[in-house]
Amino acid sequence: MIARLVLNGRPREVDVRPNQTLLELLRDTLGIFDVKEGCDEGVCGVCTVLLDGRPASSCLVLAAGLRGRAVTTLRGLERNGGLHPLQEAFIRHGAVQCGFCTPGFVVAVADLLEKDANPSPATVREALSGNLCRCTGYQKILDAVHLAATRRRAGS
Ligand code: FES
Ligand code: FES
Repeated sequence: MIARLVLNGRPREVDVRPNQTLLELLRDTLGIFDVKEGCDEGVCGVCTVLLDGRPASSCLVLAAGLRGRAVTTLRGLERNGGLHPLQEAFIRHGAVQCGFCTPGFVVAVADLLEKDANPSPATVREALSGNLCRCTGYQKILDAVHLAATRRRAGS
């Protein structure tokens, strides 16, 4: 069957299996490796993408049911071929250790800052509650989010 989606702004039509997940489509069929694969059951958040602008675990989405929906991965957040300001903030604060969880965190935070330019620490924690970091770098991640939000409000 055919899955239709708009991937990082580009319309795609791809042949998929009936039970193929969006995560499998992205990684195995399309070679989009900035989406990571972890638990495969909606728990770890490493496979997070934006689906019509909202965070979703791509391991829980059936590719065949996309019907033209917009899918944004970390790559889709790049600005003029450069890093997204959130990525720069993660690097600045040392919030990337092994980096496996980083794409999911960045995608989830990008959505949060679109909705709330000045999120409280509790709001950030809540928004990121579905993203796990096995390197336990949570405080640095929270610091990076704070820096990115501050810079964003300052327009820098
Ligand atoms: S791989 Fe999708 S939530 Fe863990
Ligand atoms: S940096 Fe290693 S899992 Fe988060």
